[in-house]
Amino acid sequence: MTAKLIKGTEIREEILEEITAEVAEIKEKHGVIPGLVTILVGESPASISYVTLKIKTAHRVGFKEVQDSQSVDIPEDDLLALIDKYNNDDSINGILVQLPLPKHINEKKILNAIDPDKDVDGFHPVNVGRLMIGGDEVKFPPCTPAGIQEMIVRAGVETKGAEVVVVGRSNIVGKPIANMMLQKGVGANSTVTVVHTGTRDLAAHCKRADILIVAAGVPDLVKPEWIKPGACVIDVGVNRVGEKPSVKNPGKMVAVLKGDVDFDAAKEIAGSITPVPGGVGPMTITMLMKNTLKSLKFKLGI
Ligand code: GUN
Repeated sequence: MTAKLIKGTEIREEILEEITAEVAEIKEKHGVIPGLVTILVGESPASISYVTLKIKTAHRVGFKEVQDSQSVDIPEDDLLALIDKYNNDDSINGILVQLPLPKHINEKKILNAIDPDKDVDGFHPVNVGRLMIGGDEVKFPPCTPAGIQEMIVRAGVETKGAEVVVVGRSNIVGKPIANMMLQKGVGANSTVTVVHTGTRDLAAHCKRADILIVAAGVPDLVKPEWIKPGACVIDVGVNRVGEKPSVKNPGKMVAVLKGDVDFDAAKEIAGSITPVPGGVGPMTITMLMKNTLKSLKFKLGI
């Protein structure tokens, strides 16, 4: 069997078009547009590239977008004051502080300073709590898990009563997606198992999964024989395993990326599977846009 490919690049286009249309409608009816600020501290090339893409996407869907770049040695108090400024700025609905932050800054303190109602990353403890309660309480599900759930739903995979196995227990992916899949409602209502480095028999758990979500950060961790025939496999891993010459920019090198699942073998067993790259990756920024739009809608009460 060859699995159906769940392509994040295609789902991204669908969702961004939906967001663009909704932004235009809100602008016409209410005279406002969503505003997103991204705060970048320092000049890490990876962070610059993520933030540039976030701003470019925000611009594409019709948001007001602010790129606030700060020097790598900005004092913590100044960064807190900057967040306070945006917390009180009515034209800003979403505040994102790009991580990681330099060592002299307490990341937790910074994330906790963001107004939970503008925390479009969903990292503030208030939003983590809202996610745990579920239902109407949820405001901003964290972007990568939200993207995973959206992909599962749009691929038409049945989640109600499904055995979902999550490999990995990070605060950004494993714990929140496990929580989201066990809630009542559409795209959830599953029986969830979380496995991790302390799990005795990883393979045995994975073999039971109707939906296998892998976010371990270990290239090719999941072997084809761990996959139940017909299962939906979501590979969140983005592991740099080498470099190769760029096709687009001759003379330049680009990273060779590998997921946490042995894709070539797994696609012969799974019913559906996400590729790496082009799977979960493009969904994260897409869901950031969705959360920013939601933030404005909550404010307008629509
Ligand atoms: N750095 C890498 N991924 C992310 C993300 O999703 N949000 C933020 N704020 N920083 C990141």
